[in-house]
Amino acid sequence: MIHTITILGGRGKSGGRDAIDSIDLRMGDVVSIVGPTGSGKTTLINDIELFADNNTPTGRRILINGEQPPPEYRDDPSRNPIALITQHTTFLSDLPVREFLMTHARIRSAPGACLDGMLERTLAFANQLTGEPILVESRMTELSGGQTRAMLIADATIICNTPIVLLDEVENAGIHRTRALELLREYQKIFIFVTHDPRIVLLSDYRIVMQGGVITAVLHTDENERRFAAHVSRLDDLLSKLRDQMRRGDRLGAPEMEEW
Ligand SMILES: Nc1ncnc2c1ncn2[C@@H]1O[C@H](COP(=O)(O)OP(=O)(O)O)[C@@H](O)[C@H]1O
Ligand SMILES: [Mg+2]
Repeated sequence: MIHTITILGGRGKSGGRDAIDSIDLRMGDVVSIVGPTGSGKTTLINDIELFADNNTPTGRRILINGEQPPPEYRDDPSRNPIALITQHTTFLSDLPVREFLMTHARIRSAPGACLDGMLERTLAFANQLTGEPILVESRMTELSGGQTRAMLIADATIICNTPIVLLDEVENAGIHRTRALELLREYQKIFIFVTHDPRIVLLSDYRIVMQGGVITAVLHTDENERRFAAHVSRLDDLLSKLRDQMRRGDRLGAPEMEEW
């Protein structure tokens, strides 16, 4: 059972050091990583995914439950506790959704594990995240951006079923984010989002701030921010609605704006 991931601080691109000596991410935490482009966000989650041991350019180390992780975490896909969704979501696969998911389920599960109902549960989860239902017969390459992202999140959560899920700037167009965060919180996992989205950041427990390749701060979402989160969600919903109206060719105007 994994209960903590520890990041032991390292160095930046030009010699500076992470502002923290260590951060403990606990089971159940939803964490965001924020910072400008080029600030080292992807590098930090790659350190986590590789279980860095002072052997990457950052010199960081990653401990699991306070100890150096066993080698089979990296060597055996059915034992690896991490699922990573990268920025690049183009599939080489032209398989129908059903075959793609079942093949992946066989690779990620222990030999002999029962896969009954896996496909249905994964699709049901994905379909709660996107407004455009995914059909099992569709080909992977035919899915829209929103469907693809919903399927990857469902795949990481249910098929990989790993205790740690890393999402690197998974673009959020076409995803119900508040619903996604609610659903994800029902699973006992550590979720780490690299994101530029204030809505996701405010729904996280805390955020790691990066600059110039180093961690500069860890900010816990405080009472003020939690209250503010409700306003941000409303503002964001309003913008989505405007975007939909614009796409349909409607005239724009929002009486709701008077409230702001
Ligand atoms: N701590 C570090 N030490 C050395 N190079 C780093 C470090 N952090 C980031 N880099 C390098 O800086 C560049 C940008 O980092 P990246 O993680 O891709 O940023 P982001 O994901 O925030 O846009 C990459 O080439 C990466 O290898
Ligand atoms: Mg990046």
